[in-house]
Amino acid sequence: MASDDGALILPRDSAVPASTDVAIIGGGVMGCAVALRLAQRGVGVTVIERGIPGAEASSAAAGMLAPQMEADGPGPMLDMGLRSRALYPSLAVELDEATGIDIGYVKSGVLAVALTDDDDRALGARRIWQAARGMRLEALSGDAARAREAELGPAVRSALYFADDAQVNPRALARAFSQAAAAAGARFLQGRYVRRVCTQAGIATGVELDGDTLNAGTVVVAAGSWSGLVEGAGVPPSVVRPARGQLVAIETRPPVFKHVLSVQGRGYLVPRRDGTVVAGSTVEMVGFRKEVTVGGLAGILELAQTLVPALANAPVMQSWSNFRPYTEDHLPVLGATAVQGLVLATGHYRNGILLAPVTAQAIADLIVTGNAGFDLGPFSIERFARA
Ligand code: GLY
Repeated sequence: MASDDGALILPRDSAVPASTDVAIIGGGVMGCAVALRLAQRGVGVTVIERGIPGAEASSAAAGMLAPQMEADGPGPMLDMGLRSRALYPSLAVELDEATGIDIGYVKSGVLAVALTDDDDRALGARRIWQAARGMRLEALSGDAARAREAELGPAVRSALYFADDAQVNPRALARAFSQAAAAAGARFLQGRYVRRVCTQAGIATGVELDGDTLNAGTVVVAAGSWSGLVEGAGVPPSVVRPARGQLVAIETRPPVFKHVLSVQGRGYLVPRRDGTVVAGSTVEMVGFRKEVTVGGLAGILELAQTLVPALANAPVMQSWSNFRPYTEDHLPVLGATAVQGLVLATGHYRNGILLAPVTAQAIADLIVTGNAGFDLGPFSIERFARA
């Protein structure tokens, strides 16, 4: 059965069990990916999702797997992004085998282009720090970029080509993670929401739902922008905030370009294999106002037309918006908290789709073995208290 937005609806399991090993708050890609990795290890998992799994920010994303294009510089975020990007080829095979869903993984490469002097300087700086780390990239003149992507507009004056950056279809990914998690034994409580995380003497004991209590040895908060609204989740609303992104789907038939195109800080075009181009995006701190605006659309479409003038005649098929879980330092909020058994997997801001595989692995390892496999210190919620 499919909902309006194409998300597959899992069989509704409204009976709340008395207890579960791990209760996961939020059924987006993050919650479902963590559920999958835990269920595969025989851990009893219950995902609580107030709507349809994956139907919010996960399905709204553009799906770029582009740490080289997105990272602000070397550091823990880049390291985590590169690690997660490397997990995608085998994840695509795994999810296809488990669910029959093609997540649309394509190593399409990203052309990060410059339209202005400032863009040129920013690309130059990016080239230097990435080359110093031995990362694969190519610096191209405008003409060299157009030789590679013929429909690129004349305003493009230079580019960096990141051959290893890729893309995925986030709606398919969200469906696949939730179906694979369910097939591995995870239980889903849909249409239910968590009022608060229950604790006793500094230890998480479960969650209180709308009318029921679910006892749990561990509680994972994976509610994205909504994490701050759950009482006792340990995530102040000031720490993870909604950053609205508007997006547009444009149809090209046949496809007119094949690389992801991006202008740092301004927007991007993601060409899907079927000819759909996802064009984005705004970054707006307007609370939970899920709107598409004239100004937002105008900016996105103007940039689209500048990057690929041939899009001027292409039909606009759809527009939408949703909320990235923004943090001030743009790093996610991961790992243990001062409350024993309360674990965070939220705040992934612009990189939730990219970081879902590595986050799931780390959080599952942390819960099962006590060791995430790499240092989660930079991502700890404690950094906000220190600040
Ligand atoms: N990662 C792209 C975006 O957040 O718009």
